[in-house]
Amino acid sequence: MKTIIEPFRIKSVEPLRYTTRGQRERLLEEAGFNLFQIPASDILIDLLTDSGTSAMSTAQWAAMMRGDESYAGSESFYRMERVARDLTGFHHIIPTHQGRAAERILFQVMCRPGHVVPSNTHFDTTRANIEFTGARAVDLPIPEAADTQLRLDFKGNMDVDALEQVIRTEGAARIPLIMITVTNNSGGGQPVSMGNIEAVKQIASRHGIPLYLDACRFAENAYFIKQRECGYSGMSPKQIAQKMFSLADGCTFSAKKDAFANIGGLLCSNDDRVALLETNLLILTEGFPTYGGLAGRDLEAIAVGLEEILDADYLHYRIVSTNYLGRHIADAGVPIVEPPGGHAIYIDAARMLPHIPRHQFPAQALAVELYRHAGIRSVEIGSVMFGESAQHELLRLAIPRRVYTQSHIDYVVEAILEVNQRRSELRGMEIAQQPPSLRHFSARFRQL
Ligand code: F0G
Repeated sequence: MKTIIEPFRIKSVEPLRYTTRGQRERLLEEAGFNLFQIPASDILIDLLTDSGTSAMSTAQWAAMMRGDESYAGSESFYRMERVARDLTGFHHIIPTHQGRAAERILFQVMCRPGHVVPSNTHFDTTRANIEFTGARAVDLPIPEAADTQLRLDFKGNMDVDALEQVIRTEGAARIPLIMITVTNNSGGGQPVSMGNIEAVKQIASRHGIPLYLDACRFAENAYFIKQRECGYSGMSPKQIAQKMFSLADGCTFSAKKDAFANIGGLLCSNDDRVALLETNLLILTEGFPTYGGLAGRDLEAIAVGLEEILDADYLHYRIVSTNYLGRHIADAGVPIVEPPGGHAIYIDAARMLPHIPRHQFPAQALAVELYRHAGIRSVEIGSVMFGESAQHELLRLAIPRRVYTQSHIDYVVEAILEVNQRRSELRGMEIAQQPPSLRHFSARFRQL
């Protein structure tokens, strides 16, 4: 059979609430045309993020009931630790309330002013946490990643020549760690090849620099390797993930992505000295090392989720269904970041709306129109989010895990194609009011 179905059935449902176009016009006005400011109950299909928005399984909900809420030495922690250790091979498994808490602790321990941390592409919280310590975050994607239309198997890879160059100019002593983000979220959800991780590891080892994975979407990355990289088709996603982790000296992880959890994170390594400093910081703000800011039940959800995510049938469905959305709009003429990534489709709004200049925020204009037209929430990843340093004007449609069915996605496709038909009528936006930092969350806009 060719038809790929959702590899789950639905046991518990949440009703969606329809709004009229008139209601959405009013909601947009009230929200200052910023979709972060619209109550979730007024969204029909929410593609703002795939983070913390997964549907949990019956096994996860059942495990939550046995959550051990002991302050110290919770059984739920040991269960989660066993699963995470089996997967990653890391000795120290430190729970945190989400990915950025792991990042804050890691960089506070490792980074000093004047340090440089290279990555294929840092996610914005990673960059912000590095810069908060006075160090510099440097993105080294392969040059081909700049062309949104180019179709490469591993467009998330790091440019290893550029990495060598940075080590030569900065000196290894000023580079406390190298990071690889899998999949490369800010670079379009594109995967990183095992060959690239191995090449970076080799360079890192030669200079005595630890390599860390930002492992948020490790399972999706592992599945792309299985499908696309020579020599991996016979391995299970888990074996591939284990190999990815074995090449790293540590990782940060947001369990809100590839662990099907609604909250949680991990900070892992094999370095006893670093782990001791990390746990000291953990206790200051997150909590005791056997719960790290989470409830015992959250640790249970993560333990089960880390195993479920590696199911090959699930991963096949996940990658194919993201591709389904991407191909249906791209083949009908909507320019997307090619090829479709693992967790999201990114529309190249600058290309779709060439009549709207960058300083009038074409991706924000498109986000607003998609909500006005069909009640769909997406997120601008462009000049609103990154200011002048934005490389592209993208609109991200992130797909929550196990939440929407194919008919929901067909609705999204139809809405995007209808907006695309009359794209020349879309107008730009200007900022009416903005905070001093992270303006995308709260800025207010005017339509031009
Ligand atoms: N690293 C990557 C690659 C991420 O995508 C995220 C979060 C984080 C780190 C931080 O994790 O949210 O648990 O603190 N990405 C979400 C997104 C917010 O929408 O892409 P967190």
